[in-house]
Amino acid sequence: MGERWQAVDDYIAAKLLGDDDVLATTLANNAAQGLPPIDVSAAQGKMLCLLAQIAGAKRILEIGTLGGYSTIWLARALPEDGRLVTLELDPHHASVARVNLERAQLSAKIDIRVGPAVDSLAAMTGHAPFDFVFIDADKQSNAHYVREAIRLGHAGTTIVVDNVVREGGVLEVDSDDERIVGTRALFDMLSAEPRLDATAVQTVGAKKWDGFVLARVR
Ligand code: SAH
Ligand code: DHB
Ligand code: MG
Repeated sequence: MGERWQAVDDYIAAKLLGDDDVLATTLANNAAQGLPPIDVSAAQGKMLCLLAQIAGAKRILEIGTLGGYSTIWLARALPEDGRLVTLELDPHHASVARVNLERAQLSAKIDIRVGPAVDSLAAMTGHAPFDFVFIDADKQSNAHYVREAIRLGHAGTTIVVDNVVREGGVLEVDSDDERIVGTRALFDMLSAEPRLDATAVQTVGAKKWDGFVLARVR
């Protein structure tokens, strides 16, 4: 089925997403610089952009920059005075992202913070709250990242968490894959968190069988 999932994503892209030199060059540059191809798909990127626009987001937080592909989609949702903070552990990923965001003419709106996201988040106090948070970094920390998103958000803040299905791996109770253990901890946290309304939606496509959490702070 994987080929057909890819073909349908290609069809969706051809019909609805159009050609985009900035995004195509970003993916080519990421590959040339040795970054893994684990960016969101084009269709998912546009969904993130639309969700941020629907939320009227002026302040966006992203955890997990990689080469800035999802960052570009999210930053395009911002108004002129909007700002995006994106957190990345790997200095090489961050420097590749910096080049891609410069080419996309989005640098002025974007602040890349390099280091473990747990530390970058802990250092964030007294900020204006974030309206939209996209979580897509180390999966073992996802429950913590959602708690931080609540702390740094406000009533109505939108939270999206990528890669929460992992080809069904989320069902593996005794997994020794820390990404699956972390994803299950995320679902446990969400099911017990009274400050959020949350769902999860499974997806197939260019990124195989996976899914995302969509949540809103009460
Ligand atoms: N959001 C990107 C993909 C992110 S891939 C996109 O869709 O285009 C996950 C990224 O999280 C990688 O670049 C990885 O280096 C980063 N990461 C892993 N652990 C991290 C941590 N503890 N803190 C911050 N970033 C981390
Ligand atoms: C992985 C991470 C991602 O953010 C993704 O979209 C796909 C895979 C991973 O760590 O395996
Ligand atoms: Mg992801």
